[in-house]
Amino acid sequence: MLRSGPLGELSTRAARLVEQHAFDPLVSIRSLTVRFGLFSGTKLPGSWPRCIVLSMHVLEAVDLHKTYGDGAGGVQALAGVSLTLSAGELVAVVGPSGCGKSTLLHLCGAMDRPTSGRVHVGGVTLADLDDEALTQLRRERVGFVFQFFNLLPTLTLQENIELPLLLAGVEATESERRARASAERVGIEHRRDHHPGAVSGGELQRAAVARALVHEPALVIADEPTGNLDSENGRLVLTLLTELTRQTGVAMLLATHDQAIAAAADRVVRMRDGLEARDTDVTIFGAVAPSS
Ligand SMILES: Nc1ncnc2c1ncn2[C@@H]1O[C@H](COP(=O)(O)OP(=O)(O)O)[C@@H](O)[C@H]1O
Ligand SMILES: [Mg+2]
Repeated sequence: MLRSGPLGELSTRAARLVEQHAFDPLVSIRSLTVRFGLFSGTKLPGSWPRCIVLSMHVLEAVDLHKTYGDGAGGVQALAGVSLTLSAGELVAVVGPSGCGKSTLLHLCGAMDRPTSGRVHVGGVTLADLDDEALTQLRRERVGFVFQFFNLLPTLTLQENIELPLLLAGVEATESERRARASAERVGIEHRRDHHPGAVSGGELQRAAVARALVHEPALVIADEPTGNLDSENGRLVLTLLTELTRQTGVAMLLATHDQAIAAAADRVVRMRDGLEARDTDVTIFGAVAPSS
């Protein structure tokens, strides 16, 4: 199954890891990422066995429907959207306000449940989990970046970044160390002791990115991450997100109406009216009420 080549030995060792963790592709991909840095480039090595790569969907969403409310006042926010996302891949969801981007991201990030359809994160079917297990999966495997940063104003940036680790029960010295490393990675080590009110928007979003990645999630959900930044800081945060996706092998699902972001993505999902739009679709924006 494995082809020899410059990465032949590496591939064999990597394949052994995959076999060891075959029950959980997510564990495998993270082990490979951490141990070999295989996903630091945009392309996988040619000798990488495709059958393994194809089994590595971090996120799989199938035919998602979501209706808020019921009866005549119900709003159908999603009307059948499917997507997959692999490790090390940045996918942009684009479309006008109200087309269902945030709804899709909430369902994929285990923050809400679909009316129908399925979501799998790291091979785990979210519908099989009760609310407590869903919360745990979200804490351990998902990181979030929001338009308005969502940092706690009474904590320093360092403490905000540490929070996911403390919630996961990581011991204080270790969480302090990992949060510091995460802050350095996004270039805000000199602002760690500041509170959110005392730093710039760009620095706030960098801190939010550090917080989203500090617990090494498999999936990061970023909802309009540059929507509240000026164009220069927006560009810097986008570059950071793109680089971190490559370096860490995380799967990044990002909603935006910024075409520059869409252009930097590996793949773009265009939406309209709660559906994935085809190129030939006439664009009529706005969500639709269910017919029944
Ligand atoms: N909690 C909610 N209750 C009722 N309607 C909602 C709720 N959240 C979103 N919607 C509606 O669902 C549609 C899609 O919203 P959203 O997913 O936020 O779109 P986007 O992120 O693309 O702007 C909109 O019509 C919006 O008003
Ligand atoms: Mg939105």
